[in-house]
Amino acid sequence: MEIVMAKTAGFCFGVDKAVKIAYENAKHKNVYTYGPIIHNTQLVDDLSKNGVEVINSLEDIHTIIDGKLIVRSHGVSKDVFINANDKFKEVIDATCPFVKRIHKIVEEYSEKGYIIIVIGNETHPEIEGIIGWTNTKTYIINSKEEALQLELNNNQPVCVVSQTTFNATKFEEMVEIIKKKVYDVIVFNTICSATHNRQNEALQIAKKVKKMIIIGGKHSSNTQKLYEICKSECKKTYHIETINDIDLSEFKADDVIGITAGASTPNNIIEEVIFEMSKIEEENSFEKLLEESLFT
Ligand code: F3S
Repeated sequence: MEIVMAKTAGFCFGVDKAVKIAYENAKHKNVYTYGPIIHNTQLVDDLSKNGVEVINSLEDIHTIIDGKLIVRSHGVSKDVFINANDKFKEVIDATCPFVKRIHKIVEEYSEKGYIIIVIGNETHPEIEGIIGWTNTKTYIINSKEEALQLELNNNQPVCVVSQTTFNATKFEEMVEIIKKKVYDVIVFNTICSATHNRQNEALQIAKKVKKMIIIGGKHSSNTQKLYEICKSECKKTYHIETINDIDLSEFKADDVIGITAGASTPNNIIEEVIFEMSKIEEENSFEKLLEESLFT
């Protein structure tokens, strides 16, 4: 068996920074993250054991908390940010710089009177945060069909941005549709370079392997995108959270297997998958040797 491992698998720098901040602060009292710090249950559970708890809303907090609130790499809306500063003694902003750039763009262009179109998944926290920085008409679209259905006024300028983890090819196709609908359009491809490189590498690997394993949280948007991209090239693509999600008996000695992982997948989980897959390789070679020696 040959394993082709993606060099870009695992934490991106934005996630890495946010996770480090959470662990560094774990030694203090009353430390919270606004939503899970990353879409990885195992890591969030470990942080909880270390005293860092998740809060999902500020609504029920009526006194000032003598503690710290960490804003995760997905970022939050302007209102949540202001509210958090009112309710916590300290707010640590771990918003990824790529996401912060989008907040600035939509804030600036909505103030200039542009309609904002955000290409991405409307239920994802990053998008909820982004739309909280606009103060004009804003559309969120996630597919070519939704782009085709958009009713835009040709007299009003449009500003287009993307979720940082969106599929680059799909983004370009949707932008082409929008450009046909409206005359004055400014486009910011805000897909982050870490995502772009990861998707590109995954696609190249998926083209040349028999089976592809994508490791990452079931709710991780960028992991789901990797799965979609790889599945389009490699029918036998598996999305797993940990090694326990995979039936190792499906893998054979002559398989060429590609492995990549989402931006929020910790290294120890990736290493465990590689370790177990390598064992199959060894077991298979042992079985083969045994077979050969029995029949010769
Ligand atoms: Fe930032 Fe890109 Fe990671 S936006 S959090 S570097 S996936």
